[in-house]
Amino acid sequence: MLIIQVGVAASMSPAEWEHDIIEAQKAHIDGFALNIAPQDDYTDRVLQTAYDAAERIGNFSLFLSFDYESGGPWPQDRVIAIINTYKSRPAQYLYKGKALVSTFEGAESSGDWPMIRHATDCVFVPSWTSLSPSGLHNVHHTIDGAFSWDAWPVGAQEKDILSDRAWISALSGKPYMMAVSPWFYTNLPQWNKNWLWRGDDLWHYRWRQVIDLQPAMIQILTWNDYGEAHYIGPIYDSGIPDGASWYVKGCPHDAWREFLPHYIDAYRRRGAMIREGALNPSAVTSYAPRRPLSYTDKIVYWYRLNPSNSGSTNGTTGNNLNMGQPGLEPGEVSQDRVFVSVLVTEPSQVHVQIGHAAPIVLFAHEPGLNHYSVPFDGHSGPVRIAIVRHGREIEIAVGPAITENCIEGKVNWNAYVGSS
Ligand SMILES: *[C@@H]1O[C@H](CO)[C@@H](O)[C@H](O)[C@H]1NC(C)=O
Ligand SMILES: *[C@@H]1O[C@H](CO)[C@@H](O)[C@H](O)[C@H]1NC(C)=O
Repeated sequence: MLIIQVGVAASMSPAEWEHDIIEAQKAHIDGFALNIAPQDDYTDRVLQTAYDAAERIGNFSLFLSFDYESGGPWPQDRVIAIINTYKSRPAQYLYKGKALVSTFEGAESSGDWPMIRHATDCVFVPSWTSLSPSGLHNVHHTIDGAFSWDAWPVGAQEKDILSDRAWISALSGKPYMMAVSPWFYTNLPQWNKNWLWRGDDLWHYRWRQVIDLQPAMIQILTWNDYGEAHYIGPIYDSGIPDGASWYVKGCPHDAWREFLPHYIDAYRRRGAMIREGALNPSAVTSYAPRRPLSYTDKIVYWYRLNPSNSGSTNGTTGNNLNMGQPGLEPGEVSQDRVFVSVLVTEPSQVHVQIGHAAPIVLFAHEPGLNHYSVPFDGHSGPVRIAIVRHGREIEIAVGPAITENCIEGKVNWNAYVGSS
């Protein structure tokens, strides 16, 4: 099950829901986790719209994720009523025949759930990440699985799988839902939020971790959370929180969906081979593509449009100080580099050129997905990337200029994502 977190946006029309579901299906995503908060009076109308749209399109699942952080705890009777309203809808996602239900936090309300499970017969897979794996034993009898929001590394390093392994071990056989996210930057001081975590190469390497670890379920964070800059769906202006437009508009992320079918199919293929006994789960993964090749050459790239020293940090810290993490310079955590993933049908060169600087020449030795990053090295201007074979440019992408000319003098820590 591969799903993606969707903040239930009040203003999305039925046509926009249908459009987004079709886009998600093209990326081989199975469904949406619908994040809902108790204070929103539009929740029921939007859930109806979403379930109706998914059922018109077909082959797409939805489930409810009760957000206990924005707007305080959910009243138990409302949770029961909402689950019972949607659990028999054709688009409802079922895990082993029962409606799956999740949360964002809410561990302090864990005492509500024996009753909710009894009254709804749901399969309960909360994200009580704040409990940490070591706190799970206290609630083990209340849950059917767990989801962890721990999708980003702390500080100036790459994300490892220690916390995923700890959750899997603490769950002792119950299903783990693993989080995958491409980026994190938020600058919303009115909500006491102004930090970033390292995105950089995360989108590529986190998927490799998913393919190796083979969690029971995967949740991508997110489809449309513009305020935290980890959206991979289309940008709808009406969904952008006040104060975030300057770092969201002009930074499309749609191209992060381009290679999802390849990552997702590799996850499923390896899982199927392990279940059939054709592969030892501890075997080193080969990411060789399936033959005959069913794809063409393609470039996906992303980078920040402003070098980290080109303007004010506007109070943004590397790491979240509210969580007690050490405060680092944002430019130490988020690197001045161009990140490039290429899908090639044959061994190739990859040329990356920033402005008028000499092109950097990289090598894609194997057919399939290859990933690189190239430092800005003080250069600015448009970024031109090419897949080159036998002296010929097979595929070209040109991204917008890296510039020291920051909007309002502030560095934009969001990423521009494009493709050929
Ligand atoms: C249903 O969607 C999945 C992607 O989640 C896709 O792989 C599959 O081919 C689709 N099946 C049908 C019958 O359309
Ligand atoms: C961030 O920028 C805004 C204007 O763009 C300004 O009002 C605010 O004071 C700045 N905050 C910090 C901490 O620099």
